[in-house]
Amino acid sequence: MISGALKAIEKDFELSERDLRKIIKGFHSEMRAGLSGRPSSLRMIPTYVDRPTGNERGEQIAIDLGGTNFRILGLTLKGRGRISNYYVMRFTLHKRDITSTGKRLFGFLARSLKKFISTNKIHTCKKINLGFTFSFPVKQSGIANGKLTAWTKSFSASGVEGNDVVALLNAALKKEHIYNIRVAALINDTVGTLASRSYSDKDCYIGVIVGTGTNACYVEKVNNIKSIRRSGKNTGDMIVNIEWGNYNKLKVTRYDAKLDKESNNPGAQMLEKMVSGKYLGEICRIVILDLVEKGALLGGIIPKKFKQCGYLAGEFVSQVLADKTQYLSGIRRLMCDAGVRDQSLNDRKTIRKICGIISLRAACITAAAMTAVITKIDPKIKNRHTIAIDGSVYEKLPEFANNVNAELRKLAGQSSTRIRLSLTKDGSGRGAAILAAVPAG
Ligand code: BGC
Repeated sequence: MISGALKAIEKDFELSERDLRKIIKGFHSEMRAGLSGRPSSLRMIPTYVDRPTGNERGEQIAIDLGGTNFRILGLTLKGRGRISNYYVMRFTLHKRDITSTGKRLFGFLARSLKKFISTNKIHTCKKINLGFTFSFPVKQSGIANGKLTAWTKSFSASGVEGNDVVALLNAALKKEHIYNIRVAALINDTVGTLASRSYSDKDCYIGVIVGTGTNACYVEKVNNIKSIRRSGKNTGDMIVNIEWGNYNKLKVTRYDAKLDKESNNPGAQMLEKMVSGKYLGEICRIVILDLVEKGALLGGIIPKKFKQCGYLAGEFVSQVLADKTQYLSGIRRLMCDAGVRDQSLNDRKTIRKICGIISLRAACITAAAMTAVITKIDPKIKNRHTIAIDGSVYEKLPEFANNVNAELRKLAGQSSTRIRLSLTKDGSGRGAAILAAVPAG
């Protein structure tokens, strides 16, 4: 019984090479549509910035907001790709900071910056350019402005969607009497990751995040971006924020459909809901519940806590997959914590298998999406490509990085030797600080 039910689930989540090639093709067509202003699930947002040259210099500060933990950092750019004097402070936002009002959220950011300034004894009379990493979809018309299109992840503060987040932050800084620091660059975390790696690696044209959310950016010819072409600038390169989490031409299982229906943004961010850390635990919970209801797991007794939406976090999947003990004692502990005392080794094996299936699918989709972006830049993969990547799923989910690499090898064949995934830790903030030093073009 159990193996039959599990096999069916495995089949539901399986993506064949053909399915993955379909994703690559779908990505290409949605990328082209997005770039030329036609309806597309890929927003293809122009960022009004190119990769840094590596020669930028000076003291810089950046605020990096993308989740409930945000960072403020300072560094000195020394030219020739060198960075020194890197210091960082971490802050935690509470649920009410991200779900009540924009005023509260930006007020918190400004007060945190004030703390950062006094702790690190930063001059308050010298003019300082601030890089602002804001890891949500924004519509930009310049490097230092951007209107939030729609909140993602668990953010919902009112008065921000449709408004310029740079203006909101600058106003909050003024309110805190910070007059010498102004936002010079608004960037996405993927853009920061790309900028941070490419400051010293000239083969890097792609930045990827697979963490709480997922997304990528890459360097495109300005001539291929319709909204920019119209403004008269049609030479050179520009980083484009793909917002790939919203890609929606994917095979959807009934588990994904349930998760989507119960989410706070139904119909949106479908790829993100299959790949990112915010959702992996929830897919797992829905699948486990289904098997228990079918009487195929935990003796058919539904653990009370498992009935709660969002009860299982992404870390659950990581911890389950990290358990290499003979009797899966780590999983036993996790299940006991969830109030499940009555469990067999077979139950634990099944839970492990479910987590493996869900995580493998996430890696396959990530590899297909990466291949699509590489081949958009370089169809025959003739050149070397470094993909700057960061995020808790990529860094911490056991086997995820290996699975992505293995799938890339399948999809790119021989050429995959020219593709290198490079973990770029904290690149999102560092990249913002670097880009704040790039003169506006
Ligand atoms: C956001 C992106 C961001 C990604 C990774 C997504 O939810 O829409 O802008 O880059 O998360 O943080």
